[in-house]
Amino acid sequence: MKLFIDDAHLDEIKRLYEYYPVDGVTTNPSILSKVDQDPRKTLKEIREFIGEDDILFAQAVALDADGIVADAHMIVDLLGKNTVVKIPSIPEGFKAIKQLTKEGIPTCGTVVYTPMQAYLAAKAGASYVAPYVNRIDNMGYDGVEVVKEIQDILDNSAFDCEVLAASFKNSQQVMELAQYGVGSATAAPSVIDSFVKNLAIDGAVQDFVRDFEKLTGKKAMTD
Ligand code: E4P
Repeated sequence: MKLFIDDAHLDEIKRLYEYYPVDGVTTNPSILSKVDQDPRKTLKEIREFIGEDDILFAQAVALDADGIVADAHMIVDLLGKNTVVKIPSIPEGFKAIKQLTKEGIPTCGTVVYTPMQAYLAAKAGASYVAPYVNRIDNMGYDGVEVVKEIQDILDNSAFDCEVLAASFKNSQQVMELAQYGVGSATAAPSVIDSFVKNLAIDGAVQDFVRDFEKLTGKKAMTD
């Protein structure tokens, strides 16, 4: 499963890139609004840091198909290759995805709350569909189960599309979907950190150092 950082703060992106095996960055207008500068400048800075080989997701803002297509052209001109344009999975969005697919511009059907939306976005030509796990949970449904249903639909179709599971509140939700074979997930830095935030792990690591120190008086092989 590919793992993306769902954040736009460059310091956090740099920190996670240093420590974790991540594949790129996902954003949306709300995430970008948390950085106090023009969102296009932020996106450009993220692209400059992650390089052209990793994937950067940026969302179209317009809500009509022509406007979405124009936004997509601007996003790709700005951010170059390996950029995926996120487009809300609504009728105007499907129309735009169909057009951009003809032009060879990769898209992600986002704001997915139901398997039907994912089906239509994938059939329109989206390379990814992004269901919102935690937001679905908050509506009283089971977000992880909805993502599994979408994965089943994609597995049983010929669509060239993968799930980008999004909107997580904990690492267990991510791992359950990794186990199910979901292609990609994006999570906030705090959720990625929580993958290994565990007193048992910290204790075991400290025990090894303490045992070495008891015998040698040193905390590392090279001390
Ligand atoms: C990603 O595609 C979504 O924009 C994002 O993960 C939504 O996350 P949130 O529900 O935490 O805002």
